[in-house]
Amino acid sequence: MANLSGRAALVTGGSRGIGAAIVKRLASDGAQVAFTYSASPDQAQQVVDQVQKAGGKAIAIKADATDQAAVRSAVQQAAKEFGKIDILVNNAGIAVLAPIADFSEADFERSLSVNVRSVFTATQEAVRNMPDGGRIIHIGSTNAERMPFAGGSVYALTKGALASFTQGLARDLGSRSITVNNIQPGPVDTDLNPASGPFAETMLSLLALKRYGHADEIAGMVSYLAGPEAGYITGASLLIDGGFAA
Ligand SMILES: NC(=O)c1ccc[n+]([C@@H]2O[C@H](COP(=O)([O-])OP(=O)(O)OC[C@H]3O[C@@H](n4cnc5c(N)ncnc54)[C@H](OP(=O)(O)O)[C@@H]3O)[C@@H](O)[C@H]2O)c1
Repeated sequence: MANLSGRAALVTGGSRGIGAAIVKRLASDGAQVAFTYSASPDQAQQVVDQVQKAGGKAIAIKADATDQAAVRSAVQQAAKEFGKIDILVNNAGIAVLAPIADFSEADFERSLSVNVRSVFTATQEAVRNMPDGGRIIHIGSTNAERMPFAGGSVYALTKGALASFTQGLARDLGSRSITVNNIQPGPVDTDLNPASGPFAETMLSLLALKRYGHADEIAGMVSYLAGPEAGYITGASLLIDGGFAA
């Protein structure tokens, strides 16, 4: 387990799924953690309560990722609360699936806004409050490398954007010893992609390991990248996908 005591973290979309697991893991590693949420205030409060019960510190900040002013203000609020942001995890994301001929412009805008534009905004505001040696971790997707079914073109586009943004950011921030990496999960059992959902059979047929991933497994990779042992990893997209892209 990485020792993150004294570190301040911000996780976007921490009320449910992978983000909630990341909040809990970073807090149990000793970091103070702020996280954003939008539609799930009760679940956000549950995450805060669980962290506090385990002896950690977490605060929840309402910020819709489609509202760039709200995202910027959430980062500023976290920086004010902790005095800095050492670790930013850009996790909030949505997956809108539809054939290209039917894909609405509104869904395209929403996908870009949550999955890409809010990552730019949170990152820009966070680096203004990030000491040297900080960590930026995006949650991309294995679908940036392999999109083996129809209807996922826009989702793949957004996650592909994170992979190349990661490379450019690593160059911008390397002189400050800030690392920037992109975790690319495969199917992970959450509300977004339930292991018992209509897609499950298709997903399982595409995996080398014949099971869905657990949110805790993604959180473990975040913990490693946020910790001192990962200080020489930057600009990387790292698959944790049960062999989906193999
Ligand atoms: N599950 C998978 O198989 C899988 C695979 C590869 C990559 N990923 C990526 O992993 C990340 C997390 O996915 P997940 O599976 O944990 O999804 P999830 O279970 O649907 O949870 C999504 C989280 O993001 C937040 N969020 C969504 N829209 C938001 C918005 N407009 N503003 C603020 N927060 C918002 C949600 O908060 P509220 O409910 O409070 O709005 C929630 O905390 C996403 O980037 C996703 O693309 C997931």
